[in-house]
Amino acid sequence: EREPLYDALGRVHTSLRISVTDRCNIRCFYCMPEENVRFRPRHELLTFEEITRLARVMASLGVNKLRLTGGEPLVRAELPKLVAQLAAVPGIHEIALTTNGILLAEQAQALKDAGLTRVNISLDAMTEETFRRISRRDGLDRVIAGIHAAKHVGLAPIRLNTVAIKGITEPEIPALARFARDEQLELRFIEFMPLDADQQWNNDQVLTGEEIRRQLEAAIGPLEPADRPDLSQPAMDYQYADGNGRIGFINPVSQPFCGDCNRLRVTAEGQLRNCLFSTVEWDARALLRASATDDELAQLIRDCVRAKKPGHGIDSSEFIRPQRAMYQIGG
Ligand code: GTP
Ligand code: 5AD
Ligand code: SF4
Repeated sequence: EREPLYDALGRVHTSLRISVTDRCNIRCFYCMPEENVRFRPRHELLTFEEITRLARVMASLGVNKLRLTGGEPLVRAELPKLVAQLAAVPGIHEIALTTNGILLAEQAQALKDAGLTRVNISLDAMTEETFRRISRRDGLDRVIAGIHAAKHVGLAPIRLNTVAIKGITEPEIPALARFARDEQLELRFIEFMPLDADQQWNNDQVLTGEEIRRQLEAAIGPLEPADRPDLSQPAMDYQYADGNGRIGFINPVSQPFCGDCNRLRVTAEGQLRNCLFSTVEWDARALLRASATDDELAQLIRDCVRAKKPGHGIDSSEFIRPQRAMYQIGG
């Protein structure tokens, strides 16, 4: 047993978010440019074998949870095969997926069979019009079908993620809340962060969790704080006072949660990041492709963790936006 991944502030890192592709089948403005996206050539992406080896070394350092992200992870060919390889890594207790849901109806059963434990699905709108305004594509009905399929194959508990943007999200809140309650799924609102490719983010567009909570209480009914069994989870959870349904608020802008962060990330082309907002990366792919030993990989991971900053500092005057947009980092 090696020593766990402590950073300089004593935060233990037990969760790895793995981006499997920078490609996506929609073009949400909070994440990607609309046109002329420059995707990484295929040979730059980590292979399934490379990802699995990295996960194995991470697990030997105490990582027990993996989450597959993108881009849109389901556009990566044969993803269930990767899930099966990761499920065989000793020490990994959870393999989760964050998806836009478009391809989920086709793949839910194979993913479940391969060992996927949970899925979080993006759902920003209940009207095709707002869906198109955000994602610049059609597809809301496929997302809804994906949600139903995930439920049907037993990928529970499913969480729905809504990025909260002023002037766009408000009219959707009651319908989103009713849908989630009817389907008995947890709905989480995520404050818009400065990770959009167009660099249009501005603090005035952030619809805070507190504002949404007021609107939900007016539209649906009173909410009360719920237990948080896992303090390192980004969401603050609430439940309706009538006992029917849960709502989560991920408030990175108005209430940063970096003090409890346990997350590491690896980009699709094998760069380790200690934060969504890292401006530095550690090149795991170079080691993986240079026949490095597990100890050398472990050392790189430790270096990455040790260099982690206390927090993102979005509201500080020294804040530097990362070069990469969300689709290039992996959510
Ligand atoms: P659970 O395991 O269900 O709690 O999932 P999660 O919330 O960790 O993962 P998910 O991919 O569903 O996260 C939803 C969104 O929350 C991400 O896309 C980010 O926008 C935001 N988020 C997740 N982790 C972090 C984080 O470490 N820092 C910040 N600032 N935002 C995060
Ligand atoms: N701000 C907040 N959340 C974002 N996501 C993508 N871009 C942003 C952003 N700029 C989240 C969406 C999506 C997940 C993959 O990442 O919720 O569900
Ligand atoms: Fe962790 Fe960075 Fe997210 Fe803060 S912004 S919670 S440090 S990943």
